[in-house]
Amino acid sequence: MSPNDLTEGAQGVQVFDDAESVARAAAEVFARLSREAVEERGAFSVALSGGTTPRRVYELLASGEYGGRVEWPKVHVFFGDERTVPPDDAESNYRMAREALLSRVPIPTENVHRVEGLGDAAANASDYESVMRGFFGDAPWPRFDLVFLGMGDDGHTASLFPETHALEETRAWAAPNWVEKLGAWRITLTAPAVNAARRVVFLVTGASKAERLGEVLNGAHDPSRLPSQMIRPRDGLLEWYVDRAAAAKLR
Ligand code: 6PG
Repeated sequence: MSPNDLTEGAQGVQVFDDAESVARAAAEVFARLSREAVEERGAFSVALSGGTTPRRVYELLASGEYGGRVEWPKVHVFFGDERTVPPDDAESNYRMAREALLSRVPIPTENVHRVEGLGDAAANASDYESVMRGFFGDAPWPRFDLVFLGMGDDGHTASLFPETHALEETRAWAAPNWVEKLGAWRITLTAPAVNAARRVVFLVTGASKAERLGEVLNGAHDPSRLPSQMIRPRDGLLEWYVDRAAAAKLR
């Protein structure tokens, strides 16, 4: 499953045979970075994403093969975004992570920092920011060791959807975001908050993503239409783990 580097211009893009290989590479980077972070700083902070490929990553991390290498009591889990639903709803990103991973590994409950979905989205975003500030201290931005992101067919990432208000946020770490086409509020990390991470890894699989991925990586810079283009860590690494089907339109 060794990844093939793409063209020079597409730095940080690794193409794998299939979604399973993408998930394995993601579980591997989680296990490796968690060890390094715990050795160097005593804890590992990660923001999880919703989506189909991440679910498989979490299942792999719950297995001995990967999870056995992680010092779970030192792991702090956050979320890139959340839907405005209760935590046991089938749509909840927290529920997905709990079922696939968090309920199956020895991570202390207090290390899981979920976003409240029920109630007022603005208040929940502000509470979530306070939770992050409690963990990261008085740093100007959250310095996650790792942020996993997905990319939607429309170019959104986390809940940073095209032409939405949260894209303009320059100060908040988390924001409420009204998404007209979903007719719903979301709560999302803001782009500057993601861009403060040490490492950001996009997981993108499937042929339905190919066209948009080509635009995001090789097309003109148009972040309000393609919010995934806003993700450029200021002092960190950006990687794209994609499968062959999603990579079909890359140069
Ligand atoms: C969410 C996500 C979202 C997701 C993409 C890709 O809660 O909706 O965090 O940003 O990652 O929509 O999802 P898939 O990998 O399932 O296509």
